[in-house]
Formats: sequence, C-alpha cells, structure tokens
Amino acid sequence: MAIKTIIGGQWGDEGKGKVSDLIIAEAVRDCPAGTSVIVVRFNGGPNAGHTIKVGDRKYVVHNLASGIIHAGVINVSGPLVVHDLEAVNQELDTAEECGGLVVFDRSAPVILPLHKQLDKAVELAASANNRAIGTTGRGIGPAYSDFWSRDALKLGDLVNPERIRRALLNRGYYESRAAIVSHFGLQPISLDDTVDWCHAHSGRVVSRLGDTREIVAEAHAKGWTIVPEGAQGILLDTVHGSAPFVTSSFCTAAALTATFGLYDLQETPNEVIAIVKAYTTRVGEGPFPTEMLGTDQAIGEDVRNRGQEFGATTGRPRRCGWLDLVALRYACRVGGITQLAITKLDILSGLPEIKVCIGYEFEGRPIREHETLTGRVLREATPQYVTLPGWSDDISGVRRRLDLPINAQAYLEFIEDFLDNTIPIDFVGVGPERDAIILP
Ligand code: GDP
Ligand code: IMO
Ligand code: MG
Repeated sequence: MAIKTIIGGQWGDEGKGKVSDLIIAEAVRDCPAGTSVIVVRFNGGPNAGHTIKVGDRKYVVHNLASGIIHAGVINVSGPLVVHDLEAVNQELDTAEECGGLVVFDRSAPVILPLHKQLDKAVELAASANNRAIGTTGRGIGPAYSDFWSRDALKLGDLVNPERIRRALLNRGYYESRAAIVSHFGLQPISLDDTVDWCHAHSGRVVSRLGDTREIVAEAHAKGWTIVPEGAQGILLDTVHGSAPFVTSSFCTAAALTATFGLYDLQETPNEVIAIVKAYTTRVGEGPFPTEMLGTDQAIGEDVRNRGQEFGATTGRPRRCGWLDLVALRYACRVGGITQLAITKLDILSGLPEIKVCIGYEFEGRPIREHETLTGRVLREATPQYVTLPGWSDDISGVRRRLDLPINAQAYLEFIEDFLDNTIPIDFVGVGPERDAIILP
C-alpha cells in the first residue's frame, strides 16, 4: 500500500489541512473491511495551524493530526512532536466530538510553561536589536532544545505528580531553565506550579499513551492505509531553510522515516506530496525574495485580503509574494517530492498579469540548479520574473483541469514544465471547502 506523505512545499500555511482531510476522507471511503486508516503527525507542535472546512464548520488543528475529525481514524502523535498539554486537551475535545481516536508516543516531549515564557522573552529582547525571528511564541524552540539535550519531560513522565517532579529535577533540568528565564528579566513559573499544571492537563493524555512506532509498523505490515501529515514547510526546515528564520524541526518526510523507521520499500513506493500555494506567503521575519513590495505592494494587500492570509495560529498578517519556482525546485529536491497539490489558484483570478520567479541573480551570476538556498542567497538574490497572462473567470466551481480558463491551465503547465515534467500537479485547490478541488 503506497504511503502518501503530505508536506508543506513553501513557508507553511499552504493548505496542508485541506489536502490531508481530503486524502483521509478518500482513504476512509476506500478502506477495506477489517482495516483502519492511521494518520501520523511526525514533526512540529502547536506552532502549526491546519484549517479544514466541512460545510459551514471550520476546524483548526494545531497539535494533533487532521484525522481527529474523522470517526474511527487513528491519529498517532509521534516521538518528535512537541506537545502543549492545553492545546492537546482542546483538540481531544474535538476528537471526542467527531469520533477520531488518538495515541501519543510515550517518549514525545512536553512543552513546559517555562518554554513559552522563554520563547517570548528571547523574542522580545531580540526585537530591540531587530534580531527577532517572529516565532509563534508557542515555546517550540526551547522545547526542542531540551529534547536534543536529552533533558525534556516526556509524555510518559506524566503518569503521576511524583514522577513529573522527579523528571523536572533530573540533572538540574527545572532549575537551569528557570535560571535562563530569570536572566531575561521574567519571574519563572515555580516548580510546584509547573508540576500542578502538567498534572492538571495530563489525565486524557496518559490514558492514550502507547508505542506509536509499533502501531505504525504493525499497521504497515498488515497493509493498512497510513497518511503521514507534515507540519510547517520545507523552507522552514531547520537544516534546509534559511536559519535562524526557520522552525526547530525537520519539515521533510525524513522526519517520518527517522522517527518511525518507515522506509521506501519496493512494493510500497512512497509518495511525497508537496502542498504549494499558487503564490507564496510567509509569516514572521526572514528573507523572502518574491515578496510583493514596492510597485507590487497593493497587489500583495489585495491577495492577502482575498486569500484571507492571516495566521491560523497567531492571527498575524501573512506576507504575500509571487510564486517562486527557484525555491520550489529546491524544496522538491531536498524534500524528495513526487507530486504537487497547487492550492488557492482561485485567489489569483482577476489579476490581469501574474509574475512567476524563474531565476535568481546572485553575486552577479545566475543561481546554480543544485545550489543550496541559504539565508544569504535568499537575502541577496535578485529574482528574475516572467509575466504570464491572468484570467478573470471565477474558477471556484471548476472540477476538471480542462475546464479551467486557458490561461489558468497554462499557469499550471508552466509550473510542471519548469520542473521538467517530472513532478505532476495532482490536485488543484479552487476554494477552502473540502470539495473545492480538482482531482487527478
Ligand atoms: P496549512 O497550515 O498548510 O494547513 O494551511 P492553513 O490552514 O494555515 O492556511 C490555508 C488557508 O487557506 C486556510 O484558511 C484554508 O481554509 C484555505 N485554503 C486551502 N486551500 C484553499 C484553496 O484552494 N482556495 C482557497 N480560497 N482557500 C484555500
Ligand atoms: P503550518 O503547519 C507558517 C514559522 C513562524 C516563524 C518560524 C519559527 O500551519 O504550516 P516557531 O514558533 O516554529 O519557533 O516559529 O516558523 N512557522 C510557521 N509559519 N505555518 C506554520 O505551520 C508555522 N510554524 C512555524 O511564523 O516564522
Ligand atoms: Mg497553517
């Protein structure tokens, strides 16, 4: 059974929730009797905000996978996902209401209140020197630091207050992190309050702890359908993105294989679908070569308003830009992408002309095809554009690629041609609703 992994192909917020929901709904429909669908979250934490629209109802899923809104679907939260217990409890309410099942990996780290304090305090101090990253303030960076330093409190430690306290005191964990919070001029949340907070929010998590790696391996062996749902986007990956303006986890399918040991077997070819907006957005600071600024600023504001480009997690306005095919080619290569889903094509309707970036001039020369898009490259590159003709028709009711206006079809073909026709566009989003999509 092919594993279809969903990955963000840009700087996040590409519409992963919508495509994931669609793939899950199809998998549930086609699921052979006696098998189940397993949706796997394998990176990030509540910095994500995945929006799903079903009829009049809008769900925004942050810490868990989008499968929580599907009855009977097993949502696995993997060992590299960082958990905010309050966010998790809110989403467990949604899962219970909709009938989605949830299992947490015992060794996944907990985001402590101290981590959120620290994230915000560091950002505030850095903003005085224009050095802020523009994080979501959800404690992601500090929680991952503690995971990699092997000190983090694990979900499996939440079983009782004594064990929580013991884990927090191990190797001077609580004291050392509290000292850093004090260094930034804040009063750290006390040890007792931290233990109480963890305990107060742990009951429903503890009853859902399990060996998620065994569950996924077993399901894979039995031929059940597995839908891995990535968070963030390849250009926010700690290694492949433009550090420090990145998140603190891997955003490619490598995070799935690294943490679940799921590999590309001959009989189960992996499919990695990059979700990509028909234009580009970015939240927070950091280089953004095709940002609509200067003479394009008014277009950027129009796209932001029509596309409702405001963060699903923080409500911040998203920066808008033209589609950047140099960045996409890079993301496809380092992310091992096999298919694309182009979302929000409907938002470009009405623009008389659409610019697309097809090259960067960097240090007086063209960027090389396999060059790494480091922060310096993205900051200093001058984007080279072609201008394509737009279309005026409303495309939100179109369900076949051939029925799109000819210029919209040409826009999609231009993207495929640029990628040497090796990565097909399998889905095209034409509206936020579940069924507003062109299928292969
Ligand atoms: P994610 O983080 O990648 O899941 O994306 P977000 O949910 O943060 O942001 C994507 C936004 O675009 C959400 O408000 C979606 O409802 C909306 N959306 C997704 N696909 C489409 C589409 O094809 N057209 C339109 N107009 N909106 C879409
Ligand atoms: P989804 O899954 C868009 C961005 C933040 C900031 C940087 C670091 O909804 O696509 P962090 O809080 O992770 O330390 O912030 O990463 N960021 C996202 N941007 N969508 C996301 O998730 C994001 N998750 C993190 O805005 O620039
Ligand atoms: Mg989002």
